[in-house]
Amino acid sequence: MISSKTIRERRTIRNFNVSPVSRELVESLLKQAAGLYESDGTPRWRCIYIGTPESRRRLVESMLAKTKESRFGKLIPSKMLDILSRRVAEIPGHLIVMAESGADERESDENFAAACGVMQNFQLLGWERGLGMLWDTDPLIQSELFFTEIGLREGEKFAGILHMGYFDKAPRARKRTPAEQKWTAVRLGGAPHEREFHPPISEQNVLEVLNDAVWAPNDRLREPWRFIFVTGGMADAHAQTVVPGTVPARLLVVVKEEADPHKQEEDFAAACCLVQNFQLLAKSKNWGVRRTRPEWIYDLERRRSFGVKPQERIAAVLELGITGRIPQAPSAAAPVEIGFELPG
Ligand SMILES: Cc1cc2nc3c(=O)[nH]c(=O)nc-3n(C[C@H](O)[C@H](O)[C@H](O)COP(=O)(O)O)c2cc1C
Repeated sequence: MISSKTIRERRTIRNFNVSPVSRELVESLLKQAAGLYESDGTPRWRCIYIGTPESRRRLVESMLAKTKESRFGKLIPSKMLDILSRRVAEIPGHLIVMAESGADERESDENFAAACGVMQNFQLLGWERGLGMLWDTDPLIQSELFFTEIGLREGEKFAGILHMGYFDKAPRARKRTPAEQKWTAVRLGGAPHEREFHPPISEQNVLEVLNDAVWAPNDRLREPWRFIFVTGGMADAHAQTVVPGTVPARLLVVVKEEADPHKQEEDFAAACCLVQNFQLLAKSKNWGVRRTRPEWIYDLERRRSFGVKPQERIAAVLELGITGRIPQAPSAAAPVEIGFELPG
């Protein structure tokens, strides 16, 4: 069980030592990471682990291709570029994760969210074993050559590379904004829910868990999320979701949409990591929590009724306090597609 301590203490590691990372460990952590991601369906994503010196060298060359071609890169002395290549090639391992596109936006988001949730689980499980990681989505590494080298298929989305290795020293943590400052409670009309929360899920308890969950990785510490806590007897009808039974409360995890599409994707990924943290913690408390992506979250009008702005996106709707319903199944039921070394 991943603890709140692990979630809070995990740090992005940028300096690795040379101790090798075993392929068996990566494979085992990946299977566990996939097993911890619960889903109603079978989200489609896959990954490749690059660990041999030859593949690492090839990968690094493709990662640096865009930098070398750029105006900035042309100003860098070739000696310095060689040093940089060697440094990156010394990193013991790299996990590349890709999500399939779905039949529609909702399904594509589901696949991408799953890829990110599994990456977060993998980072946390690795951290518990002393493995440090850097989630890299730098636009400078993303070139035609890079996507060809990693074998990105038509319609697939690159979720990121986790560079990994053991490390001598972790950096200091940089503070997160308390969830209270990003919190809105919405009470919908209608009679109060006649059912008791079981076990009790109060605003206070949810905020407490969120204050651990916000220790998710997020690029440049933009902390792109905010939370809308929805309660009230009309919750089901309002959202027009067709769910058996009733849901005492919903937590909407909302992401601010930046103008830059690259940042949009990074921020959505970060929010998915936060959602994953929340789910891990809620499970350890035995709360009945279900992550959903109902159709209405793509409908501007219906989203507005919860106070979601047009330039915001809902990363997930967490149904809280569910009792007597079929729990979500671990997606580990589906085999994890792991490739080793670069294709071709
Ligand atoms: C989707 C995503 C993309 C990221 N991309 C980069 C990146 O390209 N370069 C980088 O140095 N860090 C990247 N990071 C790591 C963040 O910078 C890091 O999580 C943040 O500084 C907070 O530090 P912490 O992870 O130690 O809490 C990324 C994180 C996420 C979730």
